[in-house]
Amino acid sequence: MQAPGIADAATQRDALAGRLLDATLGLMELGAVYLGDRLGLYRALARRPGMTSAELAAEVGVHERYAREWLEQQAVSGFLEVDAGDRPAEARRYALPAGHAEVLVDPDSLATMVPFAQFGVGVIRVMPALLEAFRTGGGVSWAQFGSDLREAQAATNRPAFLQLLGQAWLPAVPDLHARLQAEPAARVADVACGAGWSAIGLARAYPKARVDGLDLDGPSIELAQANVARAGLTDRVTMMVRDAADPALAGRYDLVTIFEALHDMSRPVEALRACRQLLAPGGSVLVVDERVSDTFVAPGDQTERLMYGFSILCCLPSGMADQPSAATGTVMRVDTLRRYAAEAGFRTAEVLPIPHDFFRFYRLRP
Ligand SMILES: C[S@@+](CC[C@H](N)C(=O)[O-])C[C@H]1O[C@@H](n2cnc3c(N)ncnc32)[C@H](O)[C@@H]1O
Repeated sequence: MQAPGIADAATQRDALAGRLLDATLGLMELGAVYLGDRLGLYRALARRPGMTSAELAAEVGVHERYAREWLEQQAVSGFLEVDAGDRPAEARRYALPAGHAEVLVDPDSLATMVPFAQFGVGVIRVMPALLEAFRTGGGVSWAQFGSDLREAQAATNRPAFLQLLGQAWLPAVPDLHARLQAEPAARVADVACGAGWSAIGLARAYPKARVDGLDLDGPSIELAQANVARAGLTDRVTMMVRDAADPALAGRYDLVTIFEALHDMSRPVEALRACRQLLAPGGSVLVVDERVSDTFVAPGDQTERLMYGFSILCCLPSGMADQPSAATGTVMRVDTLRRYAAEAGFRTAEVLPIPHDFFRFYRLRP
């Protein structure tokens, strides 16, 4: 690595300073999005376009002065449209453009971005615990991360689980797709199921299949149970608090799934071994994890930067909360997954040709 000359150093300095100014704007915009979502401001504007600050404040129950400042910030940032004219600030009327509404108020849209704002706020909340973990080598448990992270995680994947899992991902694996449609009813274990959207997506797409969801985190299972009940699926979908690495896990499943969670587990090999023992003859494990590059490349692309960001702020500390830990982090490369699978006794770990911007799909067979 060569030291930069003075001119190069000035260019580097200005580029990084500019980039961090953009990041500061991004941080503030995510904070404003969090307020807009949590306080119901965006939903009110979507229901009733063209409100003044006083009308919006009355509609959602916030203070008018705060509503006015937030509306002005949103208009200046280009999130909302404003009919300003020559009117005084109190008489300006604001609206949420239709395309922006999909990103900000539709939890089922694949374009939803509100969960990322909630993620940002969630990790800032636990910053003292993160500092402590970095210093001591300890961790920050999923429970410590709290409801913002839990809800952000669930909301991030919900659209894909409800619209792609049973419609595009599983149909791309013909024998699995056929088994899930066949008699006798296929049994699926959704390991580390979080708030249950993957289990719900599976059960909706395959009306004969029965799904057991399990997760270490009690509040996630409570959320999942409520979501399953609202979806009217309690007859075929069951949720329970369990450690995936528990050697006493019992059952016989045609399919075991682990969505975006293997890299979070303290003991992924033990968990995969337990999953292998759950398989009925002919069964397989589907691991869906991050589509990171095969090797370390710096500087990296957007996906790699995103995944390292998640790793230092959330996944590595949550995986290190329980010791001993494999300390995987979000950037679990193909080689690492294959090593874990081999150590857990799987004969093959095939990368499935399913396209997705952020996920890679692995099928593990004993
Ligand atoms: C990033 S979240 C993913 C949740 C869900 N699968 C999804 O895609 O939204 C990781 C989940 O793994 C769970 N988890 C971590 N270690 C686990 C273990 N050993 N057994 C069961 N669940 C575990 C956490 O409680 C958390 O719900």
